[in-house]
Amino acid sequence: MAEYVVEFGRDGGRVEADGRLDAAAFHRNHQAIWQALAPFLEGRRGDVVEVGSGTGQHVVEFAGRTPDITWWPSDLNEAHLRSIAAWSAHAQAGNVRAPLRIDLGDPLWCPQMRDGSGPGPLLAVFCANVVHIAPWPVAEGLIAGAARYLAPDGRLFLYGPFKQGGRHTAVSNAVFDTSLRSGNPEWGVRDVAELEQVATKAGLQLSDTIAMPANNLVLVFARI
Ligand SMILES: C[S@@+](CC[C@H](N)C(=O)[O-])C[C@H]1O[C@@H](n2cnc3c(N)ncnc32)[C@H](O)[C@@H]1O
Repeated sequence: MAEYVVEFGRDGGRVEADGRLDAAAFHRNHQAIWQALAPFLEGRRGDVVEVGSGTGQHVVEFAGRTPDITWWPSDLNEAHLRSIAAWSAHAQAGNVRAPLRIDLGDPLWCPQMRDGSGPGPLLAVFCANVVHIAPWPVAEGLIAGAARYLAPDGRLFLYGPFKQGGRHTAVSNAVFDTSLRSGNPEWGVRDVAELEQVATKAGLQLSDTIAMPANNLVLVFARI
């Protein structure tokens, strides 16, 4: 069964002196996630925002593969913001900017997205393992912000477990969903159709659904 982590470092995972935290799932999933992102991102130039970056391991890993992309990680948890900055410094990642404090509960995300000190129109938004471990308005805020800030040909990539047609795609996801909801009734594995409904109202459509290991998916949204 999938596990969830609210704050890395408090889950028994490694904590380095410089603040770097470790997500066990990163080691299992980053290569498969990159296979899903690469056809769109490889060889491209532009700004990509990662929301709910957690430890910062994904952003640093993907930045190393895309020297012409400027990556803007973000989170709202202070320990995670420190970890993201520490992983970026550790990797000497010249194309990873200082983490932004983005709370997806706010559809405008953060002032830097609008005051000229942040990225320009976005090549992509990447979000892994967030919308099921947060209340539904976080999914709405994610989609609203993506619709607002993506460039005309930009993409939103959403990785995680999802229901399809109102049904779980695996027993393990159903068990995971029950455990999430028992911890917090506002959390839960989201249905692709419900995300699509919000996206359509915001001017985005589901352009691809990519099957991933362990009954996860990458959902790709583009402008209508
Ligand atoms: C399970 S972790 C996933 C982290 C990372 N994306 C990964 O896959 O390893 C969920 C992340 O979402 C962040 N998060 C939770 N609520 C959020 C919100 N309202 N806005 C932005 N990030 C949020 C948490 O701080 C945490 O870093």
